[in-house]
Parts: sequence; C-alpha cells; structure tokens
Amino acid sequence: MHSLAAVLPVLLAFLAGSAQATTCNATNPCPSAFPCCSEFGFCGTDAFCLGGCNPLASNSIDSCRPNPICQDATHTFANFNRILTNATYFNGNASEYDWVVNSGTIMNTNVSGGELAMILTENNGGTRLSSTRYVHYGTITARLKTGRWGGVVTAFITMSDIKDEIDWEFPGAATTEGQTNYFWQGVIPSGPNNGQTTKGLSDTYSNYHDYTIDWQPKTLTFSVDGKVVRTINQADTVDKSGVSRYPNTPSRIQLSIWPAGIASSAPGTVQWGGGMINWQDPDYLAAGHFYALVKSVVVKCGDSAQRTGEVQAYKYGSNATSQTPSIAMTNQTTLLNGAGPTLGSAMSFRGAMATVAGLMIAAHIL
Ligand SMILES: *[C@@H]1O[C@H](CO)[C@@H](O)[C@H](O)[C@H]1NC(C)=O
Ligand SMILES: *[C@@H]1O[C@H](CO)[C@@H](O)[C@H](O)[C@H]1NC(C)=O
Ligand SMILES: *[C@@H]1O[C@H](CO)[C@@H](O)[C@H](O)[C@H]1NC(C)=O
Ligand SMILES: *[C@@H]1O[C@H](CO)[C@@H](O)[C@H](O)[C@H]1NC(C)=O
Ligand SMILES: *[C@@H]1O[C@H](CO)[C@@H](O)[C@H](O)[C@H]1NC(C)=O
Ligand SMILES: *[C@@H]1O[C@H](CO)[C@@H](O)[C@H](O)[C@H]1NC(C)=O
Repeated sequence: MHSLAAVLPVLLAFLAGSAQATTCNATNPCPSAFPCCSEFGFCGTDAFCLGGCNPLASNSIDSCRPNPICQDATHTFANFNRILTNATYFNGNASEYDWVVNSGTIMNTNVSGGELAMILTENNGGTRLSSTRYVHYGTITARLKTGRWGGVVTAFITMSDIKDEIDWEFPGAATTEGQTNYFWQGVIPSGPNNGQTTKGLSDTYSNYHDYTIDWQPKTLTFSVDGKVVRTINQADTVDKSGVSRYPNTPSRIQLSIWPAGIASSAPGTVQWGGGMINWQDPDYLAAGHFYALVKSVVVKCGDSAQRTGEVQAYKYGSNATSQTPSIAMTNQTTLLNGAGPTLGSAMSFRGAMATVAGLMIAAHIL
C-alpha cells in the first residue's frame, strides 16, 4: 500500500531547489545535470541522491550515493537525539542519525520510559520515518502498538531503492490482526494470497507485540512475539523464465501511520483500511490526533560475516542474474558534498504544488 504521506517530501525537495520537473524510470533515466532519480520518480541532485534514490532509473548506476551499511542495533526512544526530524536536511551521515522523518510529526509520550509516537492528523497526511542505514538481509523486530481506528493504518516495513518491499501492516479496524506481504521491484509476485492475515493477536492497540521480519537469502519469515506465523521460500518465487521474484536489494526500515480512509483513496484502499476515517472519534477529539507507538526496533544484520575491512556501504552493479542487480560492499562515502538544501527556484511554487497534487492523486489510485 502507498501512503499519502509518502508524496509530501516531493514538495519539500522541489522547494529546496535541487529538483528538475523531469520524471524518471528504468526506461527513461535522468539526465547528467540532474542525475538522481528520487523514490517518487523525479530527477534531481543533493537529497535526491540519498535514501530511496533508484540506481536503475538514475543517470548511471552509481549516480545515487551508496546505501549506508547495516549495523546491529537496538533502537529505543527515550529521547530523539538519533532522529533527524526533517529528512530534507540529511547529509548522508548515518553515524549521526539512525532515523529521518520523511513526513509528518513525532512525539515522545514517555508513558513507560520513552516511546516514539507517530502522529496522524486530518491535515498532516500521516507520519513516516526511515532508517538511515540499510539492511541487506537480516532480522528486524519492532515492538509497537498500532492505531485502533477504521481507515488508519500502522506499518512496519522494509523498502529498497528499487522497491523490493517486506511489510507488516495493521489496518486499524481490526486490532487482533496483522497483515504480511512482500513485493519484488514494486510488484506483488504472482500467486494466490500473496498478502496474508495473522489473526488472534491480543489487542494490538493496548498491547505491545514484537513483530519480526526475518529476511534471509533463502527464506523470509514473519513472527509475532517470537512465534513464526508465515514462511516464504525464495525457491518458490522463481518464475517460469528463471527470475527470482524475491526481495534481494538493500532496504531501509520504515515506520509509519497513514490515512487509508480518506476521500482521495481508491475505493479498494478505503475498504482494505477499514472504511473512512471518523475525524470526530472521541480519541481524536481528546488527543487532537491519532497515533501509533514504537517502543524499540532491534536490527541483526544478515551479512556481517561477509565483510572485510571498514566497509561503509552497499552499491549496485550490473545484473547478477536476470533482472536482478548485483550488490557489492564498498568503502565509498555515503555523504553528499555540499550537504543540506540550497533554497533556490528550480521551479515555481505553483508548479511544485500542481505536481504534488497530481502525485497525491496518483498515489491513491495505486
Ligand atoms: C517512463 O517515463 C516515460 C517519460 O515520462 C513515460 O512515457 C513512460 O510511460 C514511463 N514508463 C513506465 C514503464 O512507467
Ligand atoms: C523541512 O525543511 C524544509 C526546508 O527548509 C521546510 O520547507 C519544511 O517545512 C520542513 N518540514 C517540516 C515537516 O518541518
Ligand atoms: C558523521 O557524524 C559523526 C557523528 O556525529 C561525526 O563524528 C563525523 O565527524 C561525521 N562525519 C562527517 C564527515 O561529517
Ligand atoms: C522519558 O523518560 C525517561 C526516563 O524517565 C527520561 O530519561 C527521558 O529524558 C524522558 N524523555 C523525554 C523526552 O522527556
Ligand atoms: C575497504 O578498505 C579497507 C582498508 O583500506 C580494505 O581492507 C578493504 O578491502 C576495503 N573494502 C572494500 C570492499 O573496498
Ligand atoms: C538487467 O537485465 C535486464 C533484462 O534481464 C535488462 O533490461 C537490464 O538492462 C539489465 N540491467 C543491468 C544494470 O545490467
């Protein structure tokens, strides 16, 4: 599923003056003057070359900055020192921040020693955070409490720059269930019931559960509180032409709350999310927002044993196998040169607004 919140950073990037209105995809890569294809499919420089930059749609396969390498970590949220609250200002230094806020608002509710509250309001389009480091196979466990409101979706996913994706998602109308899914290069691999529902959880709004994505080269396993609920074998994802339709590229960890139940969503998205959001809900009126809470995220890298020296990043290379780029470790820097946005006028404010409005509509047709 694709969130409204996901398109908001496009506006920020346009205003930062580093973008060109040119769209990009694998068949129409970016020109050399604006070499990097952002996660939203627009060419630019600076922030466009960081998290989400698509190497296969950029000017050359090394136009994007390499992906900061995985580090084993236990992320907790007693304070937000390790979170950059505006991703526009990220300079690629993953030693400085563990997370960036791509859109929306975070709060520290500090009910039991500190947790991350992701905020959804009628106007903010939801909240999304991305890890600054990538995982190239590994075990990731998020301890979280979901929303409990129809149309409000809580999500914990991994997402690569070429849109390999692994999801735990929680439509808020069903607080005893979680849904799992995976994508290969932006498409749901063929086969029945790719998305599955895990039922019988104790109230996911009131109780913390540990949701795990255990992503290994040969198996993808989803667990709740240490109990396996679903296993996918890579071997079963190979199609008739021999292409492995299995997530296999370095991925950021993303945490989000987003509005599925709004007028601009496709009818299927509204239904899936549990109906239209009731902005008169007593919880919303009392708090002034909807929210989801994250207590911790534990990362165990799957590729630590393969490293030699002080490698800093992952980089893409030519195909390892059919339609699957190779991934190598590199010592190349992940930093932007002139870090930080330069305010300019690559395009007019009106133009940027029109583009973003178009993207918002597009995002909800998906
Ligand atoms: C790629 O971009 C071009 C130019 O915008 C567009 O005409 C084409 O339909 C796009 N291809 C895909 C597969 O989206
Ligand atoms: C992030 O920074 C940009 C550039 O200064 C600014 O336009 C935008 O409002 C900021 N976003 C948030 C959510 O504060
Ligand atoms: C990256 O951040 C770390 C931690 O804040 C800092 O020590 C280091 O100097 C930074 N690197 C660069 C090149 O700015
Ligand atoms: C949250 O509570 C912890 C433990 O009581 C404290 O150390 C931390 O500073 C608090 N954080 C905020 C943002 O108030
Ligand atoms: C990275 O640098 C170290 C030390 O210079 C070297 O031993 C190692 O082979 C390099 N690794 C790669 C992948 O370039
Ligand atoms: C990878 O292979 C596909 C077809 O299998 C081809 O279209 C694409 O250009 C190749 N990419 C690279 C980076 O070699």
